[in-house]
Amino acid sequence: MAARSLTSPLVGSPDLRTERLELRPVRDEDIDRILEYRNLPEVTRWLLRTVVDPVSFRAAWQRAAKAPDDHSVAVVLDGTVIGTVSLDVVDGMGQPGLPARTEAELGYIFDPAYGGRGYATEAATAMVAYAFDRLGVRRITAGCFADNLASVRLLEKIGMRREQHGVGDSWHAELGWVDGYTYALLAETWRQGRTSQPG
Ligand SMILES: CC(C)(COP(=O)(O)OP(=O)(O)OC[C@H]1O[C@@H](n2cnc3c(N)ncnc32)[C@H](O)[C@@H]1OP(=O)(O)O)[C@@H](O)C(=O)NCCC(=O)NCCS
Repeated sequence: MAARSLTSPLVGSPDLRTERLELRPVRDEDIDRILEYRNLPEVTRWLLRTVVDPVSFRAAWQRAAKAPDDHSVAVVLDGTVIGTVSLDVVDGMGQPGLPARTEAELGYIFDPAYGGRGYATEAATAMVAYAFDRLGVRRITAGCFADNLASVRLLEKIGMRREQHGVGDSWHAELGWVDGYTYALLAETWRQGRTSQPG
């Protein structure tokens, strides 16, 4: 069992399969592979956390593996890790009496060598289904820089709705203040979309 995650006992991350991909907990031996692409300029360009220090990065994944509300996965294609999808369950917004842990925050970082082939969309779609069907969250959110066109496209392909356009709300190290978007999707909207699809 130890091979399945960075630490035991196993918490958080699922084991899922899609048509082409395996989504499973991040293992310690994955970190070096992830670091092969994580700090490339085309990867860090639109991330809030840009270049990562390898030691801190490994420690952060080790902490994530122990956190029950962290369901992040490695995305594996034919035995090679090609990306990660993060899914953090959080409390939503509300007054006293707010039910706990009803929302999830989605994120994704993929190796550009495998970009543009629908893998990130396929993996994110599976994690949305996992969050709604298995974790029972009621709402999923995701944020991105407005100019991160691949991310915008991905979020809209998986059915998320742009709920906020923050004008000049986000700091970019090279560009200064730029626009940011927040996307969200309710479980009921997602279920309606599934039942209305042909076939
Ligand atoms: C965002 C990211 C995960 C997308 O990965 P990917 O493998 O290209 O994703 P997919 O192939 O599933 O889909 C990407 C979609 O964006 C489109 N796209 C990619 N680059 C684009 C661009 N510059 N302009 C417009 N559309 C673009 C693709 O054509 C595709 O849409 P399509 O299926 O309609 O053709 C990847 O680019 C990445 O990891 N970027 C660096 C990290 C990052 O920015 N993470 C998100 C932070 S919010």
